Amino acid sequence: MTDHGVADTADDERPKGEAARPHRHADRPLAGGRIDTWRHPVTVRLTHWLNVFAMTILVMSGINILMAHPHLYWGIRSTFADPWMSFPMAPDWLMVPMRRDLGAARGWHFLFAWIFVLNGLVYLAFITISGRLQRMMEPTRADLADIPHSIVEHARLKFPKGEEARRYNVLQKLTYLLVLLVLLPMMLATGLAMSPMMNAALPELLWILGGRQSARTLHFLSASGLVGFVVVHVVLVFVAGFTNNMRSMITGWFVIEPEKDDAE
Ligand code: HEM
Repeated sequence: MTDHGVADTADDERPKGEAARPHRHADRPLAGGRIDTWRHPVTVRLTHWLNVFAMTILVMSGINILMAHPHLYWGIRSTFADPWMSFPMAPDWLMVPMRRDLGAARGWHFLFAWIFVLNGLVYLAFITISGRLQRMMEPTRADLADIPHSIVEHARLKFPKGEEARRYNVLQKLTYLLVLLVLLPMMLATGLAMSPMMNAALPELLWILGGRQSARTLHFLSASGLVGFVVVHVVLVFVAGFTNNMRSMITGWFVIEPEKDDAE
């Protein structure tokens, strides 16, 4: 069984008497040639929104931790006189807790790091086992050839309609893969590399990353990359149709517009 909009249960495979009943995830025709399609299974929706919550707490408690020493360095130790990057003090409303408190911020950060990792593992296991990773996110050769065209269409704020809209477009696929397979693992590895217990268990990790200060800087850069992704992701959700996209990530159902006005 597939986990998204394709009517995947052949009528003739069902017991007699059920033949006339459409599969509960089959396409639902709407007025004006629009089609309501099944797009996001419940596991994807739950893990997505829990991830949004966990990442919000992680970023806000991370800012609080950064504010305890708002400078970044490369290498093994801090060269106090010559930081690679320094930050102004963040306002209280941008931090968890909403005051400078390194101890409490670390408590929040580590609690939500575990929630984030476990939730991420559930999501990754689900998309791998169900075949969603391959089906929805792996770019095909045709997709890769379409990259320049897709960039132009995005720049013109034109998004696919008709059958094309059932699938993620190539830029969406590549961005999700970059986030899931590069940025998130990098954030996790650089975070773990700063844990003393991890240093004792796997000292090579810190060595590979170039020392504690490099790990801290790379942790900041991967987290910033994720925040950058979220900004673009949310902007695209708005421009590609806020209500329809949000409805799909809340209920699972997504409306596909007919292709007819594409010719203009
Ligand atoms: C916090 C970090 C976030 C991450 C890492 C993230 C990641 C993702 C990923 C990987 C998908 C594809 C899921 C799949 O098909 O299996 C997705 C879809 C989606 N996300 Fe997010 N997301 C984040 C935040 C948000 C926020 C804040 C919003 C809305 C305000 C949002 C709205 C959506 C919607 C509507 C979709 C469905 C898009 C579609 O069906 O074409 N996301 N997100």
